[in-house]
Amino acid sequence: MATEARDTTAMVLETRKSGIEVVGDIPWGTHFCFFYDTKEDLVDTLISYCKAGLENEEFCLWVVAEPLTIEEAIDALRGAVPDIDRYLADSSIEIVSACDWYFQGGTFDLKRVTAGWHERLARASARGYAGVRVTGDTAWIEKKDWRDFCEYEEGLNEAVANQHLAVLCTYPLAACGAVEILDVVRTHQFALARRHQTWDVIETAGHKQAKAEIKRLNEELEQRVAERTSQLMLASEALREAQTELAHVNRVTMMGQLAASIAHEINQPVAAAVTNAHAALRWLDAEPPDLYETRQAVAAIVKDGYRVGEIINRIRSLIKGAPSRNDPLDVNEPILEVIALIRSEVQRNGVSLLTRLAEGLPLVQGDRIELQQVILNLIVNAVEAMSGAGEGARELLISTEKGASNAVLVAVRDSGSGLDPKGLDRLFDAFYTTKSNGMGMGLSICRSIIEAHGGRVWATANVPQGAVFTFTLPGDEDCTT
Ligand SMILES: Nc1ncnc2c1ncn2[C@@H]1O[C@H](COP(=O)(O)OP(=O)(O)OP(=O)(O)O)[C@@H](O)[C@H]1O
Ligand SMILES: [Mg+2]
Repeated sequence: MATEARDTTAMVLETRKSGIEVVGDIPWGTHFCFFYDTKEDLVDTLISYCKAGLENEEFCLWVVAEPLTIEEAIDALRGAVPDIDRYLADSSIEIVSACDWYFQGGTFDLKRVTAGWHERLARASARGYAGVRVTGDTAWIEKKDWRDFCEYEEGLNEAVANQHLAVLCTYPLAACGAVEILDVVRTHQFALARRHQTWDVIETAGHKQAKAEIKRLNEELEQRVAERTSQLMLASEALREAQTELAHVNRVTMMGQLAASIAHEINQPVAAAVTNAHAALRWLDAEPPDLYETRQAVAAIVKDGYRVGEIINRIRSLIKGAPSRNDPLDVNEPILEVIALIRSEVQRNGVSLLTRLAEGLPLVQGDRIELQQVILNLIVNAVEAMSGAGEGARELLISTEKGASNAVLVAVRDSGSGLDPKGLDRLFDAFYTTKSNGMGMGLSICRSIIEAHGGRVWATANVPQGAVFTFTLPGDEDCTT
């Protein structure tokens, strides 16, 4: 049912330019007729009909009847279609005489003629044309052939339905009486007539209905497309928001995990400040007061105060859901900032932290907080992998170096439990975790941040044990720290 509906809609949608102004666009499967007064009326109309077909990648077949000759048809085309020689040379248009087309073998055989259209269609489709546009003149019909021809015309409606075929049958008005005109109009979807420079369009009720149905289907389809587009836009907007929110949750969660470590980092300068304040009081109480020593102690208090302020600012910006920025930065800086927050957490787990940060690295374009988040996730994972592992040495090495094509390489290397071969291809998937209290978001967030920065992240085994997580970031051209 669904496929059927789709096919009909596709058929309906594919309209073609008829080239005839009063007709406008027509769907494939159109079978219409044209009553003409003079040879000029006929030629003018067919030239624009064929021109529209040729210029829209259709194969054209024009069956001419006396008094019009093939040569006259070609001459007329030459005057109107700029590329006609190319179209003739590559057989995009074929002009044949009614005698050859309808009377092959001396008799009119409606089955053979209809099969002829289909055969041209198959050939044209195989050659890559969009479809076949046909026109045939009936000036040759004699009274005795009329009945047969009417039967053929009637059968043609069915033969062209759902095919990439359009058929225009032309009738000289002079040869048609009222009865003939009625027969012709009845057997076509609609009729055109051109007399004294004016047009008449006669539509059958069925055709009117079909056109209305096409219009309705098209409108419905357009509306469905518009609805789907806005749904998709809303969904992708919601997805983006959810991703930002998840990344934010990940940062806040990590800050929670690191609370003890952070408290320690803050406590140290605060304790130092208190000690210095006591010392300052003592220097002031001395006889005489030692102002030099007092000043030294107070200066140290100011320095510690700034240090606490910095740490708090860093935590605040990590917790804040600030929009992404794009600044040139030295990747070593976010690394050092993260280390300042996490140092005591690392120590508490009996891990020794080493850094090997290259100098003069190319600057990278990026968001400082997001890069801190990546490094923090990788370090927390490394520490977790080592605290679970047995007694071996617990070593964490963070290194940076310049990679190929001006890229910057950052590696976080641990001596922990190592990567589980079963989960290797899912490592960076959202919600993949082997930890009882893990969310499985860390690495997936790392990957989306790094990829949004134009880089790559991957994991390998460390020797003799543990894992290495490496990421690259494209460096700015000619821009080093
Ligand atoms: N350094 C590592 N050594 C060994 N396995 C690791 C390492 N880092 C990550 N993994 C594996 O990858 C999984 C996914 O890591 P990820 O950071 O995405 O989630 P998580 O740490 O389990 O949870 P979350 O980070 O959301 O708290 C981990 O559960 C672990 O199995
Ligand atoms: Mg993690």
